[in-house]
Amino acid sequence: MSGATITGWGAALPETVLTNADLEARLDTSDAWIKERTGIRERRIGGTTIELAIQAGAQALKRANEGRDAVPDVDMLIVSTNTPDPPIPATAAYVQDALGLSCGVFDLNSGCSGFVYALVVANGLIATGMNRVLVVASDTVSRIVDPEDRATAVLFGDGAGACVLEAKGNSLFFDSLGRDAEDSDSMVHAADSTGSDLLGFDLGSDGSAAKFLYRDHGGYVVMDGQEVFRRAVRATISSARNALKRAGAAASDIALFVPHQANLRIMEAVGDRLAIPMERTMVTIDRMGNTSSASIPLALAEAADQGRISPGDLVLMSGFGAGLTWASAVVRWGGLELKS
Ligand code: ACO
Repeated sequence: MSGATITGWGAALPETVLTNADLEARLDTSDAWIKERTGIRERRIGGTTIELAIQAGAQALKRANEGRDAVPDVDMLIVSTNTPDPPIPATAAYVQDALGLSCGVFDLNSGCSGFVYALVVANGLIATGMNRVLVVASDTVSRIVDPEDRATAVLFGDGAGACVLEAKGNSLFFDSLGRDAEDSDSMVHAADSTGSDLLGFDLGSDGSAAKFLYRDHGGYVVMDGQEVFRRAVRATISSARNALKRAGAAASDIALFVPHQANLRIMEAVGDRLAIPMERTMVTIDRMGNTSSASIPLALAEAADQGRISPGDLVLMSGFGAGLTWASAVVRWGGLELKS
């Protein structure tokens, strides 16, 4: 069985910047509250899920192909998204067409954990014989939040990130998906649908909004922020510990922790419990907000571009999101020569 290595990465952000001051001007909120409670200063909004996915995917492939005489075919394209433009066909079908690929395609929706879920699936596909898998995570949550709801409108941004995974014999990849946690608490699943009403769509009291969700605006994201916060901290710690255990690694072995960017206070609380200091934690939420399943690959791409990870480094990624779902993975950074 082959292991998988990340050989290319890409990122795409819309040009429009929405600052806290912009939000302050139209909502009962303040720059001080948003920064203190979430760590967000600004976020990017605009574009479509498909457009952003194409940009990030193209960039990841370009990087993976650099300096190679023979470019391997992509065997599978997985797009993680919670915000597909049309429900069918899959967003991955549009991305495949735009990138001129000839491969299998499918979308994966697992909330903000979707990118890590997709990595785990891609790793499994490679273990069973595929050679190259392109994983893209693209979300445009700004289109499904109520612009008048200060509880959610300040949190989210749009964006996409992507990675190319390839079969490489000596790589390492360990995940915590669906396996028992080291903790003796109850966070032993990778999903807990008893929390599905804590973060989802407002379908109306009789569910009638479901009939027109895909036309105009039939519903908006609603969230029980405090309860989601509490569960996010607990599940992320548990799943990260589990992935570390499976990798035979200690927190001190992790060169960079790339958590889902939902709230700076969540990242600080998790890092504190895991004993991974903020200097070794990737933070993009201040400039991007919560970009849902795109947040981890966006942060990973920024880290790689800035030379914050070198070949051989262990990287821990942890996602948490609607479902509720969570997933962590430890990967040994491979890739081509890193450029800073
Ligand atoms: N501006 C000003 N005041 C606000 C705002 C705002 N934007 N939003 C809420 N408030 C007020 C509330 O009304 C409340 O006022 P009150 O005390 O008078 O009742 C007060 O601020 C405190 O509200 P809380 O909800 O307790 O604020 P909290 O500190 O919990 O922060 C937040 C809210 C940022 C949503 C936080 O709970 C959070 O980040 N939750 C987790 C979200 C998350 O992890 N998501 C990740 C997974 S899902 C995904 O990423 C898609």
